[in-house]
Amino acid sequence: MRILVTGGLGFIGSHLVRRLLREPGIVVENLDSLTYAGNPANLADVESNPRYCWHRVSVTDDRAVDAVFQRGRFDAVMHLAAESHVDRSIEGGRIFVETNVLGTQILLEAARRYQVGRFLQVSTDEVYGSLGPEGFFTEESPLQPNSPYSASKAAGDLLVLAAYRTYGQDVVVTRCSNNYGPYQFPEKVIPLWITNGLEGKPWPIYGDGEHIRDWIYVEDHVEGLWLALTRGRAGEVYNFGSRNQKTNREVAEALMALLNLPSSVLVPVADRLGHDRRYAIDPTKAERELGFRPQYQWADALKKTVEWYQTHRDWWMAIKSGAYREFYQRHYGSLGQELDDH
Ligand code: NAD
Ligand code: DAU
Repeated sequence: MRILVTGGLGFIGSHLVRRLLREPGIVVENLDSLTYAGNPANLADVESNPRYCWHRVSVTDDRAVDAVFQRGRFDAVMHLAAESHVDRSIEGGRIFVETNVLGTQILLEAARRYQVGRFLQVSTDEVYGSLGPEGFFTEESPLQPNSPYSASKAAGDLLVLAAYRTYGQDVVVTRCSNNYGPYQFPEKVIPLWITNGLEGKPWPIYGDGEHIRDWIYVEDHVEGLWLALTRGRAGEVYNFGSRNQKTNREVAEALMALLNLPSSVLVPVADRLGHDRRYAIDPTKAERELGFRPQYQWADALKKTVEWYQTHRDWWMAIKSGAYREFYQRHYGSLGQELDDH
């Protein structure tokens, strides 16, 4: 089986590529333009695998995408490449529309032109918007995205589902909750707090800190993606989550305990604009139809995650001392400057 993975140099994509290569006989081609969020170091261990290669191509580059498909003769596409950070989308949504909407359409068209067997769209629970204190997102929940990021992902999902209804294209859409684990870019809250903790810097917490996210270990998500690819029904949406809701304050407390830090490390900062209050996934359909069963428990997997950042300082120091500094200082205002001068 020949699979094109997009966004394979990012956080989830790199775990997915590694997982796919464990299947005998699978060939993986990775289409990734290497934005600030991509990192060849994430896949250094598979670089020389003869069943793997990387094309430095943008999903928005029609011609280059066509050439990759023409040579690749793919059986499936697993589409993860995206602009993925909500706070960046609040600063400016245009690149999110280009990559997450136009890029998805370009890939869909190429997959049709070259008769690719299946197109898997890797999406997010954020397309459903925000929940009140009760209830869960199911696949039937209305799409009510609130940020430019989630709106662009919802638009991508709709184009994918429209291709199924219009052309009978074989597509599957997955929507997962918040991932955590090794190789996550340290702009996202868990690696940001862990690495700030290891550098002796404070942890910015937005608003009252009572916002809820439903956390899943990245390897459980990636396993779900393989199941959706191989067992999912065409034209269907599958939600993935671990039934693991935590307030941001609870996440911080768990990390403080693991890192042996006092609660004074938390510094309240201005809330995110349009900040979604609560996400919670009902994964029943994926459990029933795909046999999806998350294997990792929060306490163990969070500990494992902290240990990974403790033992991979070079990986995140290179990122935090590079171009990311600029965003960090701008986004966190005077705190960012203070943190950097620390
Ligand atoms: P990431 O930001 O870590 O990685 C994104 C990757 O896409 C990078 O390697 C980047 O270089 C690449 N990329 C960006 N623009 C590109 C373009 N124009 N052409 C080709 N490559 C491009 O993202 P992530 O957190 O690993 O998320 C991967 C996917 O999973 C995204 O589609 C995201 O919406 C979805 N998702 C993420 C989460 C989460 O918690 N992180 C949860 C559910 C779904
Ligand atoms: O739900 C899935 C989504 O999860 C994915 O689609 C996105 O790609 C991914 O980035 C993530 O989005 P969130 O906005 O939930 O993740 P983030 O890590 O940015 O923030 C998690 C929570 O922590 C959120 O309530 C905002 C808060 N936060 C975040 C940062 C960066 C803080 O309190 N302080 C911070 O400095």
